[in-house]
Amino acid sequence: MKTIAVITGASSGLGKEFVRQIVLRGAPNEIWIIARRKERLEEIASSFPCAIVPIALDLTDPASYDVLAEKLAAENPHISYLVCAAGMGRIGLTEDMTADDIDRIIELNCRALARVTQACLPYMSAGSRILEIASVAGFQPLPAFNLYAASKAFVVSYTKTLHYELRKKGIHVTAVCPYWVKDTEFIPTASNETDGGYRHFPFAQKCADVVRRALDAADQNRCICTPGFVPSLDRVMAKTIPHGLLIRGLDVFRRL
Ligand SMILES: NC(=O)c1ccc[n+]([C@@H]2O[C@H](COP(=O)([O-])OP(=O)(O)OC[C@H]3O[C@@H](n4cnc5c(N)ncnc54)[C@H](OP(=O)(O)O)[C@@H]3O)[C@@H](O)[C@H]2O)c1
Repeated sequence: MKTIAVITGASSGLGKEFVRQIVLRGAPNEIWIIARRKERLEEIASSFPCAIVPIALDLTDPASYDVLAEKLAAENPHISYLVCAAGMGRIGLTEDMTADDIDRIIELNCRALARVTQACLPYMSAGSRILEIASVAGFQPLPAFNLYAASKAFVVSYTKTLHYELRKKGIHVTAVCPYWVKDTEFIPTASNETDGGYRHFPFAQKCADVVRRALDAADQNRCICTPGFVPSLDRVMAKTIPHGLLIRGLDVFRRL
């Protein structure tokens, strides 16, 4: 039986970096990489000296889950890593969000993550690792990033129970909660031109550092990974400061 890693959101940013670091740590027989941009995935696949299988899917389309499930059923692999990194956000005031943005954020960040995880679970066993990419935004509500923060709160909550449920099977489950990460496509894709957004991204983290810390946390079966000082501080603040007060403070901070 072959061993594989499944990585969503692998055409850029954190997902692509997970491919690189999982290869460095001793690649499974194959890495299945999922995102919409087929050429990007093929480019990435050809840049590694190991078997990488590009699977071009739009994970907001429910038919994509059947494609993945059918491929898994046909090949019956053992999954050693599942990384759900596909995600999107839209910075701006809630009243300015389009219906399309609302649907896509919920479908990708919440439904797709849960459906991909569900599809992969039958192929995992003791020692397998699941990394659900959440965010510090999942710890508290965020002004001008409301729906995104709410979607990441879903990921944090979902992962906590999954971690508990799979403990007895020896499957490691970790919610990865970075602060802003600058060297990915996330911030430019999420930003808009209006006055309702964030102006600066101070203390932004580096993609490679976040992924290294996330994989270490998964090895240790930590339920929540805050990869660095700033996200760890954010988690403490979200636990200790009343959220009404935090929202006000963050609203001032984002305009500076
Ligand atoms: N960067 C940050 O500041 C930050 C901070 C905290 C958490 N995160 C989280 O980290 C994760 C990775 O983000 P990133 O920073 O690496 O951003 P990124 O570079 O924009 O990567 C997002 C990935 O998701 C894929 N994707 C987007 N829509 C998709 C769809 N409908 N179907 C399938 N794949 C789709 C994109 O590929 P295609 O466009 O080719 O489909 C891309 O590979 C996200 O969940 C994000 O919420 C990011």
